[in-house]
Amino acid sequence: MGQETRSRICERGYGVRILISYFGYTGENSTVAMLARSVAEDLGRDQEVVISAIEPQRPRSYWNWLVRSFLPGSRVSIKPVVSDLAPYDVVCLGLPKWTFSCPPVNEYLHRIQNARGRRFCVFLSYGGWDEERYLKALIRAVDRKGGTVIATLAMKRSRLLSGDFGEDVARFCRTIRSRNEI
Ligand SMILES: Cc1cc2nc3c(=O)[nH]c(=O)nc-3n(C[C@H](O)[C@H](O)[C@H](O)COP(=O)(O)O)c2cc1C
Repeated sequence: MGQETRSRICERGYGVRILISYFGYTGENSTVAMLARSVAEDLGRDQEVVISAIEPQRPRSYWNWLVRSFLPGSRVSIKPVVSDLAPYDVVCLGLPKWTFSCPPVNEYLHRIQNARGRRFCVFLSYGGWDEERYLKALIRAVDRKGGTVIATLAMKRSRLLSGDFGEDVARFCRTIRSRNEI
């Protein structure tokens, strides 16, 4: 365990503080929410984890989202959400893979404060194509905010629905632990 991590535990009486912020199209029933809960359960065994849902101010139809998802960087208004990252050591961002862009998440990234120097992890649920390019774009977006992505997980929707994803989540969480010397 590194000196920095050890002194933080002494200060707070707890380990690394982790924020999981996620957006799922169908809210709590979405595969992204399922993934967020699974990551929180694993990391929450030995760390303090806060989960925060990113929610658009108003619902939109599939076709409305689809058109917006073709516009890189497009944003929509979202409900109040944990956006000051200062209290957290690690921020996990969960989202669906949407064409070129996920507007509620773009707005969240626009809104966050104190991202500079912070470690991020990204997890995705996707239908079946183009997830690698999408992940790279997200890594660049986090980089522009001054953060660094230390772990990624892209999971096919069909795999999530089959329930056979525990080992992938465990590997993702092991990477997060090892990069934070937890
Ligand atoms: C507007 C929109 C655009 C999408 N674009 C893609 C895409 O480009 N590639 C892909 O693999 N899946 C795409 N999907 C499918 C979602 O990534 C997939 O259904 C994911 O599991 C959704 O997560 P959720 O359960 O949280 O809604 C798209 C879905 C929507 C609604």
